[in-house]
Amino acid sequence: MKILVLGHKGMLGTDLMSRLGGHSLTGKDVDDFDITSAADCRDIVDESRPDIVINAAAFTDVDGCETREETAFAVNAEGVKNVALACREDNTRIIHFSTDYVFDGTSERPYREDDRCNPINAYGRSKLQGELYLKEFSKNYTLIRTSWLYGRHGKNFVKAIVQRAKNFQELEVVTDQVGSPTFTADLAGAVKVLAEGGHTGTFNVTNRGSCSWYEFARRILDLSGFEHVEIKPITSEFLERKALRPKNSMLSGEKFASATGKTLRFWQVALRDYLELPV
Ligand SMILES: NC(=O)c1ccc[n+]([C@@H]2O[C@H](COP(=O)([O-])OP(=O)(O)OC[C@H]3O[C@@H](n4cnc5c(N)ncnc54)[C@H](OP(=O)(O)O)[C@@H]3O)[C@@H](O)[C@H]2O)c1
Repeated sequence: MKILVLGHKGMLGTDLMSRLGGHSLTGKDVDDFDITSAADCRDIVDESRPDIVINAAAFTDVDGCETREETAFAVNAEGVKNVALACREDNTRIIHFSTDYVFDGTSERPYREDDRCNPINAYGRSKLQGELYLKEFSKNYTLIRTSWLYGRHGKNFVKAIVQRAKNFQELEVVTDQVGSPTFTADLAGAVKVLAEGGHTGTFNVTNRGSCSWYEFARRILDLSGFEHVEIKPITSEFLERKALRPKNSMLSGEKFASATGKTLRFWQVALRDYLELPV
């Protein structure tokens, strides 16, 4: 298949380019086009005439979105509309990514695809509007909600925790936000399955199992030779961050499993692999 990957230099985009290597791939990122420009989106789609457009381009700085909500909406919402309109004439399939942050986190169980959205921060609002535009302007889409991404390419929580430990910096991590850390290489593998299987609609895709950020940090240190480094457990109200985060970020993978017959690895196994330890 001919696949156009938008945001191919980002954390997920980089892994998509390597996992989808058997296909004819074109990558475009912010130096090639601006997703907020309808004309740019039309031009790159017309130029490569792909079978699938995978949109991994986004404004992902969750705290930055609070102070730059207009930019967040331009990229994460209007940008998706531009991509959908560019694909409309030929009914070109779109694979797009959204987030656990479209939910408010008050549920007692993992969120299912059709649960009610109620974002509590600007990033979540902009991503939800992107979802709505996708559904309005495309009849041929796969919407993948995922969470807590980390990958070899780009800044992420795993690197930040290890760096702080190396620098002897104090570590305080929250215990009251629970979710599923997800390795972008595993997510890219799931995208391949959904793309090749022709699955459309909305799917949650994360690594299996869940933990708090505190438990995630503890596991990262234990696997990285920093077992002796202490982490102070705190709750969200002691963390001075611009954006609120949902307490429950867990996404149910049942629909993905029943549609594809596959489940992703447990997050602990994926983390070992990321850290290049035997799994
Ligand atoms: N990271 C997470 O924890 C997480 C969790 C749930 C869902 N997601 C979703 O997963 C997808 C991939 O996330 P990611 O973490 O891989 O993102 P990322 O590393 O931030 O990559 C996004 C890419 O999009 C580019 N971009 C930004 N503005 C653009 C514009 N106006 N026009 C064209 N390209 C632009 C970025 O360029 P610059 O870097 O130069 O800005 C970057 O290369 C996103 O849809 C995100 O919302 C992420």
